[in-house]
Amino acid sequence: MRALVVGGTGMLGQAVTAHWLERGAAVLAVGSDRVDLTRPDTGERAIADFAPELVVNCAAFTRVDDCESEPELAMAINGTGVGDLARATSAAGAKLIHISTDYVFDGESAEPYDEAAAVNPRSVYGESKLEGERQTLRFPRNLVLRTSWLFGPGGGSFAATIVRLLADGGQPLRVVADQHGCPTYAPYLAATIWELAAADATGVLHYCNREATTWHGFALAIVRAVGREVEIEAISTEEMPRPAERPAHSVLSVERIERLLGHPVEPWQRGLESYLEQVR
Ligand SMILES: NC(=O)c1ccc[n+]([C@@H]2O[C@H](COP(=O)([O-])OP(=O)(O)OC[C@H]3O[C@@H](n4cnc5c(N)ncnc54)[C@H](OP(=O)(O)O)[C@@H]3O)[C@@H](O)[C@H]2O)c1
Repeated sequence: MRALVVGGTGMLGQAVTAHWLERGAAVLAVGSDRVDLTRPDTGERAIADFAPELVVNCAAFTRVDDCESEPELAMAINGTGVGDLARATSAAGAKLIHISTDYVFDGESAEPYDEAAAVNPRSVYGESKLEGERQTLRFPRNLVLRTSWLFGPGGGSFAATIVRLLADGGQPLRVVADQHGCPTYAPYLAATIWELAAADATGVLHYCNREATTWHGFALAIVRAVGREVEIEAISTEEMPRPAERPAHSVLSVERIERLLGHPVEPWQRGLESYLEQVR
């Protein structure tokens, strides 16, 4: 398998690259200095040079709040840029696996969102990612894989922030307790992308780790795992206003992917143990 990993310098891109190299794939991992999604020619050139069978797009404008003030750049990277990559991939006879997000949902459903649930993004980031999905799905061989609350080595994340705050002295923390979702360990997602590529999965799939929690619940688990006693105040979203609206309940249903893979998705607690072993 020859795989081009776009966004190969990011948290997920590094995990995909490491896992796929371990499995014996030929991988070219590129950052935005080599493939810039706002410059279609750069993607076309990399595809022509490397001749991949598969392109995994882990690149995105992921600073959710900054997307609100830079909507055109967000759309250029997460939306139209993905369209250009999808076209170049298809023209080369290859398949695109594109990573998307729970932020395409409004978060108003109390039930987990399955792949057929109605999308209704509430942020520029969510809107731009949804456009990237639409562009990807213009080609029937492609796969859109939605995930949520990523954490892992080599990247910024909520877990990384909590670990850093604890290392800085463990002052009392204030964490939002009314947003629900599923943390997802990037190396587990990377291994899943490998399985999905082998199964030639197409369309839309959801992958996240079990079970759902809140940011507050996740922070508590991190503090306990680190073995610290730090007060964590549970606050509401209203008490921590941010430029971009976050979905209140963006739990993704993983029933379809579990059936397809033939095994349950991993618990995020196990991923957290592995993560902390690496960053401590
Ligand atoms: N993080 C989460 O909690 C989360 C949750 C759900 C879904 N996702 C999705 O998961 C995927 C991976 O996220 P992540 O957290 O691993 O991202 P990340 O660590 O923020 O990395 C972003 C990557 O995108 C690249 N990039 C930025 N602008 C680019 C451009 N103009 N052209 C090409 N590449 C560009 C960066 O390359 P350089 O560093 O070289 O500039 C970097 O490799 C994304 O699609 C994201 O939307 C993330």
